[in-house]
Amino acid sequence: MSEVRRGCFGFLLLILLCSNFDGCEGRKGWHWRHRQSPSSSLARKKGRGNNGAGNGHSSGGGGARGGGRSGYLSPLPPPPLPPPPSPSPYLKNGSQAAPAAAMFDVLDFGAKGDGVTDDTKAFEAAWATACKVGGSVMVVPAEFEFLVGPISFSGPYCQTNIVFQLDGMIIAPTNAKYWGSGLLWWIEFSKLQGITIQGSGVIEGRGSVWWTNNEPDVDSIKEELSLVLPKIKPTALRFYGSYNVTVRGITIQNSQQCHLKFDNCETVQVYNMTIASPGNSLNTDGIHLQNSRDVMIHHTNMSCGDDCVSIQTGCSNINIHSVTCGPGHGISIGGLGRDNSKACVSNITVRDVNLHSTMTGVRIKTWQGGSGSVQNIRFSNIRVTEVQTPIMIDQFYCDRSSCKNQTSAVGLSGIAYENIKGTYTVKPVHFACSDASPCSDITLTQVELQPLQEHYHMYEPFCWQTYGELYTPTLPPVVCLQNGKPTSNHILSDHDLC
Ligand SMILES: *[C@@H]1O[C@H](CO)[C@@H](O)[C@H](O)[C@H]1NC(C)=O
Ligand SMILES: *[C@@H]1O[C@H](CO)[C@@H](O)[C@H](O)[C@H]1NC(C)=O
Ligand SMILES: *[C@@H]1O[C@H](CO)[C@@H](O)[C@H](O)[C@H]1NC(C)=O
Ligand SMILES: *[C@@H]1O[C@H](CO)[C@@H](O)[C@H](O)[C@H]1NC(C)=O
Ligand SMILES: *[C@@H]1O[C@H](CO)[C@@H](O)[C@H](O)[C@H]1NC(C)=O
Ligand SMILES: *[C@@H]1O[C@H](CO)[C@@H](O)[C@H](O)[C@H]1NC(C)=O
Repeated sequence: MSEVRRGCFGFLLLILLCSNFDGCEGRKGWHWRHRQSPSSSLARKKGRGNNGAGNGHSSGGGGARGGGRSGYLSPLPPPPLPPPPSPSPYLKNGSQAAPAAAMFDVLDFGAKGDGVTDDTKAFEAAWATACKVGGSVMVVPAEFEFLVGPISFSGPYCQTNIVFQLDGMIIAPTNAKYWGSGLLWWIEFSKLQGITIQGSGVIEGRGSVWWTNNEPDVDSIKEELSLVLPKIKPTALRFYGSYNVTVRGITIQNSQQCHLKFDNCETVQVYNMTIASPGNSLNTDGIHLQNSRDVMIHHTNMSCGDDCVSIQTGCSNINIHSVTCGPGHGISIGGLGRDNSKACVSNITVRDVNLHSTMTGVRIKTWQGGSGSVQNIRFSNIRVTEVQTPIMIDQFYCDRSSCKNQTSAVGLSGIAYENIKGTYTVKPVHFACSDASPCSDITLTQVELQPLQEHYHMYEPFCWQTYGELYTPTLPPVVCLQNGKPTSNHILSDHDLC
Protein backbone atom coordinates (compact mmCIF):
# COMPACT_ATOMS: atom_id res chain seq x y z
CA MET A 1 0.00 0.00 0.00
CA SER A 2 1.65 3.20 -1.08
CA GLU A 3 1.41 6.47 0.76
CA VAL A 4 -0.20 7.81 -2.33
CA ARG A 5 -3.09 5.42 -2.08
CA ARG A 6 -3.42 5.85 1.64
CA GLY A 7 -3.39 9.60 1.28
CA CYS A 8 -5.93 9.44 -1.45
CA PHE A 9 -8.17 7.26 0.63
CA GLY A 10 -7.85 9.52 3.65
CA PHE A 11 -8.80 12.39 1.45
CA LEU A 12 -11.85 10.54 0.25
CA LEU A 13 -12.93 9.96 3.82
CA LEU A 14 -12.46 13.59 4.62
CA ILE A 15 -14.69 14.66 1.81
CA LEU A 16 -17.37 12.11 2.50
CA LEU A 17 -17.52 12.71 6.21
CA CYS A 18 -17.61 16.44 6.26
CA SER A 19 -21.35 16.64 6.71
CA ASN A 20 -20.63 15.95 10.37
CA PHE A 21 -17.86 18.27 11.35
CA ASP A 22 -17.05 16.62 14.70
CA GLY A 23 -16.83 13.22 13.12
CA CYS A 24 -14.77 14.69 10.36
CA GLU A 25 -12.30 16.23 12.76
CA GLY A 26 -11.97 13.00 14.66
CA ARG A 27 -11.46 10.99 11.54
CA LYS A 28 -9.13 13.53 10.05
CA GLY A 29 -6.90 13.63 13.10
CA TRP A 30 -6.98 9.89 13.18
CA HIS A 31 -5.74 9.28 9.69
CA TRP A 32 -3.48 12.23 9.21
CA ARG A 33 -1.63 12.06 12.47
CA HIS A 34 -1.53 8.31 12.45
CA ARG A 35 0.69 8.27 9.40
CA GLN A 36 3.00 10.91 10.78
CA SER A 37 4.08 9.96 14.26
CA PRO A 38 3.62 7.00 16.55
CA SER A 39 3.37 9.28 19.59
CA SER A 40 0.16 10.81 18.34
CA SER A 41 -1.23 7.33 17.87
CA LEU A 42 -0.51 6.71 21.50
CA ALA A 43 -2.31 9.88 22.38
CA ARG A 44 -5.22 8.61 20.41
CA LYS A 45 -5.20 5.40 22.34
CA LYS A 46 -5.28 7.26 25.61
CA GLY A 47 -8.11 9.44 24.41
CA ARG A 48 -10.08 6.39 23.49
CA GLY A 49 -9.44 4.82 26.85
CA ASN A 50 -10.63 7.88 28.75
CA ASN A 51 -13.66 8.61 26.72
CA GLY A 52 -14.46 6.29 23.93
CA ALA A 53 -17.32 8.42 22.65
CA GLY A 54 -15.42 11.66 22.44
CA ASN A 55 -13.02 10.86 19.67
CA GLY A 56 -15.14 10.67 16.62
CA HIS A 57 -15.68 6.93 16.83
CA SER A 58 -18.97 7.08 18.66
CA SER A 59 -20.66 5.08 15.96
CA GLY A 60 -18.07 2.35 16.38
CA GLY A 61 -20.53 -0.49 16.47
CA GLY A 62 -22.42 0.81 13.47
CA GLY A 63 -20.38 -1.09 10.95
CA ALA A 64 -21.19 -4.34 12.60
CA ARG A 65 -24.87 -3.58 12.30
CA GLY A 66 -24.51 -2.97 8.63
CA GLY A 67 -25.29 0.73 8.93
CA GLY A 68 -23.32 3.61 10.34
CA ARG A 69 -20.13 4.59 8.73
CA SER A 70 -18.99 1.41 7.14
CA GLY A 71 -21.23 2.11 4.19
CA TYR A 72 -19.04 4.93 2.96
CA LEU A 73 -16.08 2.63 2.85
CA SER A 74 -17.28 0.73 -0.15
CA PRO A 75 -15.39 1.82 -3.27
CA LEU A 76 -18.02 0.44 -5.64
CA PRO A 77 -18.98 2.43 -7.53
CA PRO A 78 -16.03 4.78 -6.97
CA PRO A 79 -17.27 8.27 -6.18
CA PRO A 80 -15.82 10.98 -8.43
CA LEU A 81 -12.75 12.62 -6.94
CA PRO A 82 -13.46 16.27 -6.15
CA PRO A 83 -10.56 18.71 -6.48
CA PRO A 84 -8.45 18.99 -3.33
CA PRO A 85 -9.78 21.86 -1.19
CA SER A 86 -6.44 22.60 0.44
CA PRO A 87 -2.86 21.56 -0.05
CA SER A 88 -1.77 18.52 1.88
CA PRO A 89 1.38 16.47 1.60
CA TYR A 90 -0.76 13.43 0.90
CA LEU A 91 -2.80 14.94 -1.88
CA LYS A 92 -0.20 16.38 -4.19
CA ASN A 93 -0.14 13.18 -6.13
CA GLY A 94 -3.72 12.16 -5.47
CA SER A 95 -5.33 13.02 -8.75
CA GLN A 96 -3.11 10.64 -10.66
CA ALA A 97 -3.17 7.78 -8.20
CA ALA A 98 -4.95 4.50 -8.82
CA PRO A 99 -8.39 4.16 -7.20
CA ALA A 100 -7.96 3.65 -3.46
CA ALA A 101 -8.55 0.19 -2.05
CA ALA A 102 -11.53 -0.09 0.26
CA MET A 103 -10.32 -0.17 3.84
CA PHE A 104 -12.20 -1.66 6.75
CA ASP A 105 -10.76 -0.81 10.13
CA VAL A 106 -11.76 -3.13 12.96
CA LEU A 107 -12.17 -0.09 15.21
CA ASP A 108 -15.08 0.97 13.02
CA PHE A 109 -16.73 -2.35 13.66
CA GLY A 110 -16.72 -1.98 17.41
CA ALA A 111 -13.31 -3.38 18.33
CA LYS A 112 -11.95 -1.82 21.52
CA GLY A 113 -8.32 -2.83 21.22
CA ASP A 114 -7.77 -2.53 24.95
CA GLY A 115 -6.34 -6.02 25.35
CA VAL A 116 -9.20 -7.03 27.65
CA THR A 117 -12.49 -6.69 25.79
CA ASP A 118 -13.33 -9.59 23.49
CA ASP A 119 -13.01 -8.15 19.99
CA THR A 120 -13.84 -11.37 18.14
CA LYS A 121 -17.24 -10.17 16.90
CA ALA A 122 -15.81 -6.92 15.59
CA PHE A 123 -13.16 -8.84 13.63
CA GLU A 124 -15.86 -11.12 12.21
CA ALA A 125 -17.96 -8.15 11.19
CA ALA A 126 -15.03 -6.35 9.55
CA TRP A 127 -14.17 -9.50 7.66
CA ALA A 128 -17.75 -10.07 6.52
CA THR A 129 -17.63 -6.65 4.91
CA ALA A 130 -14.08 -6.87 3.50
CA CYS A 131 -14.90 -10.28 2.06
CA LYS A 132 -17.42 -8.75 -0.30
CA VAL A 133 -14.99 -6.30 -1.90
CA GLY A 134 -12.23 -7.50 -4.18
CA GLY A 135 -8.79 -6.16 -3.23
CA SER A 136 -10.12 -4.66 0.00
CA VAL A 137 -7.98 -4.09 3.07
CA MET A 138 -9.02 -5.15 6.55
CA VAL A 139 -7.06 -2.96 8.94
CA VAL A 140 -5.86 -3.92 12.40
CA PRO A 141 -4.31 -0.61 13.45
CA ALA A 142 -1.04 -0.07 15.27
CA GLU A 143 -0.84 0.80 18.96
CA PHE A 144 -3.85 -1.33 19.86
CA GLU A 145 -4.03 -4.76 21.43
CA PHE A 146 -6.98 -6.85 20.30
CA LEU A 147 -8.14 -9.83 22.29
CA VAL A 148 -9.54 -12.22 19.70
CA GLY A 149 -10.85 -15.71 20.33
CA PRO A 150 -10.76 -18.60 17.86
CA ILE A 151 -11.78 -17.14 14.51
CA SER A 152 -12.09 -18.24 10.92
CA PHE A 153 -11.74 -15.85 8.00
CA SER A 154 -13.41 -18.16 5.62
CA GLY A 155 -13.71 -17.38 1.99
CA PRO A 156 -15.52 -19.72 -0.33
CA TYR A 157 -17.76 -16.78 -1.22
CA CYS A 158 -15.24 -13.98 -0.72
CA GLN A 159 -13.78 -11.78 -3.42
CA THR A 160 -10.13 -12.19 -4.41
CA ASN A 161 -6.91 -10.52 -3.29
CA ILE A 162 -7.98 -9.32 0.14
CA VAL A 163 -5.29 -7.80 2.34
CA PHE A 164 -5.24 -8.22 6.10
CA GLN A 165 -3.17 -5.25 7.22
CA LEU A 166 -1.85 -6.17 10.65
CA ASP A 167 -0.02 -3.34 12.39
CA GLY A 168 -1.41 -3.75 15.87
CA MET A 169 -1.27 -6.76 18.14
CA ILE A 170 -3.73 -9.64 18.27
CA ILE A 171 -3.59 -11.57 21.52
CA ALA A 172 -5.07 -14.98 22.28
CA PRO A 173 -7.40 -15.61 25.19
CA THR A 174 -5.84 -17.71 27.92
CA ASN A 175 -9.18 -18.38 29.57
CA ALA A 176 -10.22 -21.99 29.04
CA LYS A 177 -13.82 -21.02 28.26
CA TYR A 178 -12.75 -19.85 24.79
CA TRP A 179 -11.27 -23.19 23.82
CA GLY A 180 -14.03 -25.65 24.60
CA SER A 181 -12.85 -29.23 24.46
CA GLY A 182 -9.96 -28.29 22.20
CA LEU A 183 -9.48 -26.58 18.84
CA LEU A 184 -6.84 -27.23 16.19
CA TRP A 185 -6.25 -23.57 15.43
CA TRP A 186 -6.75 -20.11 16.74
CA ILE A 187 -6.80 -17.87 13.64
CA GLU A 188 -7.71 -19.50 10.35
CA PHE A 189 -7.91 -18.24 6.79
CA SER A 190 -9.55 -20.75 4.51
CA LYS A 191 -10.62 -21.20 0.91
CA LEU A 192 -9.37 -17.86 -0.34
CA GLN A 193 -8.01 -16.82 -3.71
CA GLY A 194 -5.30 -14.25 -3.15
CA ILE A 195 -4.89 -13.41 0.53
CA THR A 196 -2.14 -11.29 2.01
CA ILE A 197 -1.34 -10.77 5.66
CA GLN A 198 1.15 -7.97 6.00
CA GLY A 199 2.32 -5.27 8.32
CA SER A 200 4.49 -4.70 11.34
CA GLY A 201 1.98 -6.20 13.76
CA VAL A 202 2.17 -9.15 16.10
CA ILE A 203 0.14 -12.30 16.64
CA GLU A 204 0.74 -13.16 20.29
CA GLY A 205 -0.40 -16.62 21.34
CA ARG A 206 0.35 -16.20 25.07
CA GLY A 207 1.22 -19.87 24.92
CA SER A 208 3.07 -20.31 28.21
CA VAL A 209 -0.14 -21.45 29.91
CA TRP A 210 -0.34 -24.26 27.33
CA TRP A 211 3.28 -25.35 27.33
CA THR A 212 3.16 -26.32 30.99
CA ASN A 213 -0.27 -27.89 30.63
CA ASN A 214 0.94 -31.45 31.13
CA GLU A 215 2.75 -30.95 34.37
CA PRO A 216 0.55 -32.44 37.09
CA ASP A 217 1.31 -29.94 39.81
CA VAL A 218 0.51 -27.06 37.49
CA ASP A 219 -2.66 -28.86 36.42
CA SER A 220 -3.94 -29.09 39.95
CA ILE A 221 -3.33 -25.42 40.53
CA LYS A 222 -5.19 -24.60 37.36
CA GLU A 223 -8.03 -26.90 38.34
CA GLU A 224 -8.50 -24.93 41.50
CA LEU A 225 -8.77 -21.81 39.41
CA SER A 226 -11.03 -23.68 36.96
CA LEU A 227 -8.71 -22.74 34.17
CA VAL A 228 -7.97 -26.17 32.79
CA LEU A 229 -7.08 -25.84 29.14
CA PRO A 230 -7.90 -28.69 26.77
CA LYS A 231 -5.16 -31.17 25.85
CA ILE A 232 -5.45 -30.24 22.18
CA LYS A 233 -3.39 -27.15 21.54
CA PRO A 234 -4.19 -24.79 18.70
CA THR A 235 -1.95 -23.63 15.87
CA ALA A 236 -1.75 -19.83 16.01
CA LEU A 237 -2.28 -19.00 12.34
CA ARG A 238 -3.43 -21.52 9.78
CA PHE A 239 -4.15 -21.26 6.06
CA TYR A 240 -6.26 -23.93 4.48
CA GLY A 241 -7.22 -24.64 0.89
CA SER A 242 -6.07 -21.28 -0.44
CA TYR A 243 -4.31 -20.11 -3.55
CA ASN A 244 -1.80 -17.25 -3.82
CA VAL A 245 -1.13 -16.60 -0.15
CA THR A 246 1.36 -14.02 1.11
CA VAL A 247 2.49 -13.53 4.69
CA ARG A 248 5.03 -10.78 5.21
CA GLY A 249 6.41 -8.41 7.81
CA ILE A 250 4.44 -9.68 10.77
CA THR A 251 5.63 -11.43 13.92
CA ILE A 252 4.01 -14.54 15.35
CA GLN A 253 5.14 -15.30 18.86
CA ASN A 254 4.53 -17.54 21.83
CA SER A 255 2.13 -19.76 19.98
CA GLN A 256 0.18 -22.33 21.91
CA GLN A 257 1.55 -24.96 19.51
CA CYS A 258 2.61 -24.52 15.86
CA HIS A 259 2.99 -20.86 14.83
CA LEU A 260 2.10 -20.84 11.14
CA LYS A 261 0.59 -23.66 9.14
CA PHE A 262 -0.27 -24.12 5.47
CA ASP A 263 -2.47 -27.02 4.53
CA ASN A 264 -3.71 -27.66 0.98
CA CYS A 265 -2.35 -24.37 -0.27
CA GLU A 266 -0.78 -23.48 -3.59
CA THR A 267 1.52 -20.58 -4.43
CA VAL A 268 2.57 -19.31 -1.04
CA GLN A 269 5.06 -16.57 -0.18
CA VAL A 270 6.34 -16.06 3.34
CA TYR A 271 9.00 -13.46 3.90
CA ASN A 272 10.42 -10.73 6.08
CA MET A 273 8.72 -12.13 9.12
CA THR A 274 9.62 -13.32 12.58
CA ILE A 275 8.61 -16.34 14.60
CA ALA A 276 9.61 -16.23 18.22
CA SER A 277 9.06 -18.57 21.14
CA PRO A 278 11.38 -19.86 23.87
CA GLY A 279 13.53 -22.90 23.08
CA ASN A 280 11.84 -24.89 25.82
CA SER A 281 8.26 -24.27 24.69
CA LEU A 282 6.66 -27.64 23.90
CA ASN A 283 5.76 -28.53 20.29
CA THR A 284 5.95 -24.99 19.04
CA ASP A 285 6.87 -25.62 15.38
CA GLY A 286 7.67 -22.49 13.43
CA ILE A 287 6.18 -23.10 9.98
CA HIS A 288 4.38 -26.29 9.12
CA LEU A 289 3.68 -27.23 5.50
CA GLN A 290 1.33 -29.98 4.46
CA ASN A 291 -0.18 -30.93 1.09
CA SER A 292 1.09 -27.65 -0.29
CA ARG A 293 3.07 -26.75 -3.38
CA ASP A 294 4.97 -23.84 -4.84
CA VAL A 295 5.94 -22.35 -1.51
CA MET A 296 8.70 -19.78 -0.94
CA ILE A 297 9.91 -18.95 2.55
CA HIS A 298 12.70 -16.41 2.87
CA HIS A 299 14.16 -13.62 4.99
CA THR A 300 12.52 -14.98 8.08
CA ASN A 301 13.93 -15.41 11.58
CA MET A 302 12.65 -18.29 13.61
CA SER A 303 13.22 -19.31 17.20
CA CYS A 304 10.95 -21.87 18.79
CA GLY A 305 10.74 -25.09 20.78
CA ASP A 306 10.34 -27.51 17.87
CA ASP A 307 11.12 -27.65 14.14
CA CYS A 308 11.63 -24.20 12.63
CA VAL A 309 10.18 -25.49 9.39
CA SER A 310 8.44 -28.83 9.15
CA ILE A 311 7.62 -30.21 5.71
CA GLN A 312 4.97 -32.90 5.74
CA THR A 313 3.39 -35.20 3.22
CA GLY A 314 2.02 -33.89 -0.06
CA CYS A 315 4.56 -31.08 -0.37
CA SER A 316 6.49 -30.29 -3.53
CA ASN A 317 8.32 -27.35 -5.03
CA ILE A 318 9.23 -25.81 -1.71
CA ASN A 319 12.00 -23.24 -1.66
CA ILE A 320 13.39 -22.02 1.63
CA HIS A 321 16.26 -19.56 1.69
CA SER A 322 17.84 -16.78 3.72
CA VAL A 323 16.27 -17.83 6.99
CA THR A 324 17.67 -18.25 10.48
CA CYS A 325 16.68 -20.91 12.97
CA GLY A 326 17.56 -21.16 16.63
CA PRO A 327 16.79 -22.15 19.19
CA GLY A 328 14.66 -24.93 17.75
CA HIS A 329 14.91 -28.40 16.27
CA GLY A 330 16.13 -27.32 12.83
CA ILE A 331 14.57 -27.69 9.42
CA SER A 332 12.83 -31.02 8.97
CA ILE A 333 11.11 -33.08 6.36
CA GLY A 334 8.73 -35.38 8.20
CA GLY A 335 8.02 -37.39 10.30
CA LEU A 336 6.51 -39.17 7.34
CA GLY A 337 4.70 -42.48 7.07
CA ARG A 338 3.22 -42.58 10.52
CA ASP A 339 0.66 -45.34 11.12
CA ASN A 340 1.57 -47.06 7.82
CA SER A 341 0.57 -44.03 5.80
CA LYS A 342 1.86 -43.13 2.37
CA ALA A 343 3.93 -39.97 2.05
CA CYS A 344 5.09 -38.06 -1.02
CA VAL A 345 7.53 -35.18 -0.82
CA SER A 346 9.62 -33.86 -3.72
CA ASN A 347 11.56 -30.90 -5.05
CA ILE A 348 12.62 -29.22 -1.84
CA THR A 349 15.44 -26.67 -1.74
CA VAL A 350 16.82 -25.29 1.51
CA ARG A 351 19.69 -22.85 1.00
CA ASP A 352 21.50 -19.97 2.67
CA VAL A 353 20.29 -20.91 6.11
CA ASN A 354 21.83 -20.17 9.50
CA LEU A 355 21.15 -22.59 12.32
CA HIS A 356 22.19 -21.70 15.84
CA SER A 357 21.93 -23.89 18.95
CA THR A 358 19.43 -26.23 17.38
CA MET A 359 18.88 -29.92 18.03
CA THR A 360 19.33 -30.97 14.42
CA GLY A 361 20.30 -28.96 11.38
CA VAL A 362 18.70 -30.37 8.27
CA ARG A 363 16.79 -33.56 8.91
CA ILE A 364 14.59 -36.12 7.19
CA LYS A 365 12.60 -38.36 9.50
CA THR A 366 10.25 -41.21 8.62
CA TRP A 367 8.38 -43.75 10.70
CA GLN A 368 8.80 -47.45 10.12
CA GLY A 369 5.97 -49.02 8.16
CA GLY A 370 5.24 -46.14 5.80
CA SER A 371 5.31 -46.04 2.01
CA GLY A 372 5.79 -43.47 -0.73
CA SER A 373 8.91 -41.42 -1.38
CA VAL A 374 11.05 -38.40 -0.69
CA GLN A 375 12.88 -37.27 -3.83
CA ASN A 376 15.01 -34.47 -5.17
CA ILE A 377 16.00 -32.65 -2.00
CA ARG A 378 18.81 -30.10 -1.86
CA PHE A 379 20.36 -28.63 1.28
CA SER A 380 22.84 -25.98 0.27
CA ASN A 381 24.93 -23.28 2.00
CA ILE A 382 23.95 -24.18 5.52
CA ARG A 383 25.82 -22.60 8.45
CA VAL A 384 25.55 -24.41 11.75
CA THR A 385 26.70 -23.13 15.12
CA GLU A 386 26.55 -25.35 18.20
CA VAL A 387 24.09 -27.69 16.53
CA GLN A 388 23.78 -31.12 18.14
CA THR A 389 23.49 -33.12 14.89
CA PRO A 390 23.74 -30.95 11.77
CA ILE A 391 22.91 -33.62 9.17
CA MET A 392 20.39 -36.35 9.90
CA ILE A 393 18.30 -38.98 8.16
CA ASP A 394 16.28 -41.11 10.53
CA GLN A 395 14.06 -43.81 9.04
CA PHE A 396 13.39 -45.17 12.51
CA TYR A 397 11.74 -42.05 13.84
CA CYS A 398 9.64 -42.71 16.89
CA ASP A 399 8.42 -40.15 19.37
CA ARG A 400 7.10 -42.72 21.80
CA SER A 401 9.16 -44.88 24.14
CA SER A 402 9.25 -47.70 21.57
CA CYS A 403 7.85 -48.43 18.14
CA LYS A 404 7.15 -51.74 16.44
CA ASN A 405 9.80 -52.90 13.96
CA GLN A 406 8.35 -52.96 10.46
CA THR A 407 9.98 -53.59 7.10
CA SER A 408 8.30 -51.12 4.77
CA ALA A 409 9.47 -47.52 4.68
CA VAL A 410 9.08 -44.25 2.84
CA GLY A 411 11.83 -44.44 0.18
CA LEU A 412 14.52 -41.76 0.20
CA SER A 413 16.56 -40.86 -2.86
CA GLY A 414 18.27 -37.91 -4.47
CA ILE A 415 19.30 -35.98 -1.36
CA ALA A 416 22.14 -33.49 -1.89
CA TYR A 417 24.10 -31.85 0.91
CA GLU A 418 26.29 -29.00 -0.36
CA ASN A 419 28.47 -26.58 1.52
CA ILE A 420 27.38 -27.37 5.03
CA LYS A 421 29.81 -25.91 7.54
CA GLY A 422 30.14 -25.06 11.20
CA THR A 423 30.19 -26.63 14.63
CA TYR A 424 28.35 -29.53 16.24
CA THR A 425 28.04 -30.72 19.81
CA VAL A 426 27.03 -34.40 19.51
CA LYS A 427 27.43 -35.98 16.07
CA PRO A 428 28.23 -34.44 12.69
CA VAL A 429 26.29 -36.80 10.44
CA HIS A 430 23.68 -39.45 11.21
CA PHE A 431 22.22 -41.49 8.37
CA ALA A 432 19.97 -44.31 9.61
CA CYS A 433 18.18 -45.84 6.63
CA SER A 434 15.86 -48.78 6.43
CA ASP A 435 17.10 -52.30 5.57
CA ALA A 436 14.28 -53.01 3.17
CA SER A 437 14.45 -49.63 1.51
CA PRO A 438 17.99 -48.20 1.74
CA CYS A 439 18.62 -44.52 1.02
CA SER A 440 20.07 -43.95 -2.42
CA ASP A 441 21.78 -41.15 -4.29
CA ILE A 442 22.85 -39.33 -1.14
CA THR A 443 25.59 -36.87 -2.12
CA LEU A 444 27.89 -34.76 0.02
CA THR A 445 29.87 -31.79 -1.27
CA GLN A 446 31.98 -29.50 0.90
CA VAL A 447 30.74 -30.71 4.23
CA GLU A 448 33.01 -29.39 7.01
CA LEU A 449 31.85 -29.86 10.57
CA GLN A 450 33.96 -29.22 13.65
CA PRO A 451 33.28 -30.56 17.13
CA LEU A 452 32.65 -27.89 19.72
CA GLN A 453 34.07 -28.33 23.22
CA GLU A 454 34.74 -31.63 24.87
CA HIS A 455 32.17 -31.66 27.64
CA TYR A 456 29.79 -33.85 25.67
CA HIS A 457 30.47 -37.32 24.44
CA MET A 458 31.14 -36.88 20.75
CA TYR A 459 30.18 -39.43 18.15
CA GLU A 460 31.63 -40.32 14.76
CA PRO A 461 29.57 -39.99 11.59
CA PHE A 462 27.06 -42.83 11.43
CA CYS A 463 25.56 -44.52 8.35
CA TRP A 464 23.27 -47.51 7.98
CA GLN A 465 22.11 -48.68 4.55
CA THR A 466 23.08 -45.35 3.02
CA TYR A 467 24.29 -45.23 -0.59
CA GLY A 468 25.62 -42.40 -2.66
CA GLU A 469 28.77 -40.43 -3.28
CA LEU A 470 31.17 -37.99 -1.64
CA TYR A 471 31.79 -35.39 -4.35
CA THR A 472 34.54 -33.81 -2.26
CA PRO A 473 36.37 -34.99 0.87
CA THR A 474 34.42 -34.20 4.01
CA LEU A 475 35.45 -33.14 7.48
CA PRO A 476 35.28 -35.40 9.36
CA PRO A 477 35.48 -38.14 6.71
CA VAL A 478 32.13 -39.85 6.19
CA VAL A 479 33.67 -43.19 5.30
CA CYS A 480 30.54 -45.07 6.20
CA LEU A 481 28.66 -43.83 3.12
CA GLN A 482 28.48 -46.73 0.65
CA ASN A 483 29.37 -46.01 -2.94
CA GLY A 484 26.94 -46.57 -5.75
CA LYS A 485 23.44 -47.96 -5.68
CA PRO A 486 21.91 -50.35 -3.19
CA THR A 487 21.60 -53.90 -4.53
CA SER A 488 18.18 -54.19 -3.10
CA ASN A 489 15.56 -56.59 -4.29
CA HIS A 490 13.00 -54.19 -2.98
CA ILE A 491 10.49 -53.80 -5.77
CA LEU A 492 8.58 -50.58 -5.95
CA SER A 493 4.90 -51.34 -5.85
CA ASP A 494 2.10 -49.03 -6.93
CA HIS A 495 1.72 -48.38 -3.28
CA ASP A 496 5.12 -46.63 -3.30
CA LEU A 497 4.61 -44.55 -6.42
CA CYS A 498 3.85 -40.95 -5.83
C1 LIG B 1 3.93 11.05 -7.55
O1 LIG B 1 4.57 10.09 -6.72
C2 LIG B 1 5.60 9.38 -7.37
C3 LIG B 1 6.10 8.30 -6.41
O2 LIG B 1 6.28 8.82 -5.13
C4 LIG B 1 6.70 10.35 -7.79
O3 LIG B 1 7.74 9.62 -8.45
C5 LIG B 1 6.10 11.39 -8.72
O4 LIG B 1 7.10 12.32 -9.05
C6 LIG B 1 4.93 12.06 -8.05
N1 LIG B 1 4.29 12.96 -9.01
C7 LIG B 1 3.93 14.21 -8.68
C8 LIG B 1 3.25 15.00 -9.76
O5 LIG B 1 4.14 14.68 -7.58
C1 LIG C 1 -1.52 -13.02 -6.19
O1 LIG C 1 -1.75 -12.11 -5.14
C2 LIG C 1 -1.19 -10.83 -5.35
C3 LIG C 1 -1.41 -10.02 -4.10
O2 LIG C 1 -2.74 -10.11 -3.68
C4 LIG C 1 -1.83 -10.21 -6.57
O3 LIG C 1 -1.27 -8.95 -6.81
C5 LIG C 1 -1.60 -11.13 -7.77
O4 LIG C 1 -2.27 -10.60 -8.88
C6 LIG C 1 -2.11 -12.51 -7.48
N1 LIG C 1 -1.70 -13.40 -8.56
C7 LIG C 1 -2.53 -14.25 -9.13
C8 LIG C 1 -1.96 -15.10 -10.22
O5 LIG C 1 -3.70 -14.35 -8.80
C1 LIG D 1 10.10 -5.91 6.69
O1 LIG D 1 9.18 -5.76 7.77
C2 LIG D 1 9.42 -4.62 8.56
C3 LIG D 1 8.47 -4.68 9.72
O2 LIG D 1 7.18 -4.96 9.30
C4 LIG D 1 9.22 -3.38 7.72
O3 LIG D 1 9.48 -2.25 8.49
C5 LIG D 1 10.18 -3.45 6.53
O4 LIG D 1 9.94 -2.35 5.68
C6 LIG D 1 10.00 -4.73 5.76
N1 LIG D 1 11.04 -4.84 4.75
C7 LIG D 1 10.79 -5.30 3.53
C8 LIG D 1 11.97 -5.39 2.61
O5 LIG D 1 9.67 -5.63 3.17
C1 LIG E 1 16.56 -11.28 11.16
O1 LIG E 1 17.68 -11.12 11.98
C2 LIG E 1 18.72 -10.38 11.37
C3 LIG E 1 19.91 -10.40 12.31
O2 LIG E 1 19.52 -10.03 13.60
C4 LIG E 1 18.24 -8.96 11.06
O3 LIG E 1 19.26 -8.23 10.43
C5 LIG E 1 17.02 -9.06 10.16
O4 LIG E 1 16.47 -7.78 9.94
C6 LIG E 1 15.97 -9.94 10.79
N1 LIG E 1 14.88 -10.12 9.85
C7 LIG E 1 13.61 -9.86 10.16
C8 LIG E 1 12.60 -10.15 9.13
O5 LIG E 1 13.29 -9.40 11.24
C1 LIG F 1 9.76 -31.70 -9.53
O1 LIG F 1 10.67 -31.08 -10.41
C2 LIG F 1 10.78 -31.76 -11.66
C3 LIG F 1 11.91 -31.11 -12.43
O2 LIG F 1 11.81 -29.75 -12.37
C4 LIG F 1 9.43 -31.67 -12.37
O3 LIG F 1 9.50 -32.31 -13.62
C5 LIG F 1 8.38 -32.33 -11.51
O4 LIG F 1 7.10 -32.17 -12.10
C6 LIG F 1 8.36 -31.72 -10.11
N1 LIG F 1 7.47 -32.50 -9.26
C7 LIG F 1 6.34 -32.02 -8.79
C8 LIG F 1 5.54 -32.95 -7.95
O5 LIG F 1 5.96 -30.88 -8.99
C1 LIG G 1 13.78 -53.64 16.44
O1 LIG G 1 14.98 -54.09 15.82
C2 LIG G 1 16.16 -53.66 16.46
C3 LIG G 1 17.35 -54.08 15.60
O2 LIG G 1 17.25 -55.41 15.20
C4 LIG G 1 16.21 -54.25 17.87
O3 LIG G 1 17.38 -53.81 18.53
C5 LIG G 1 14.99 -53.76 18.63
O4 LIG G 1 14.96 -54.35 19.90
C6 LIG G 1 13.71 -54.12 17.88
N1 LIG G 1 12.61 -53.45 18.54
C7 LIG G 1 11.45 -54.05 18.80
C8 LIG G 1 10.41 -53.22 19.49
O5 LIG G 1 11.23 -55.22 18.48
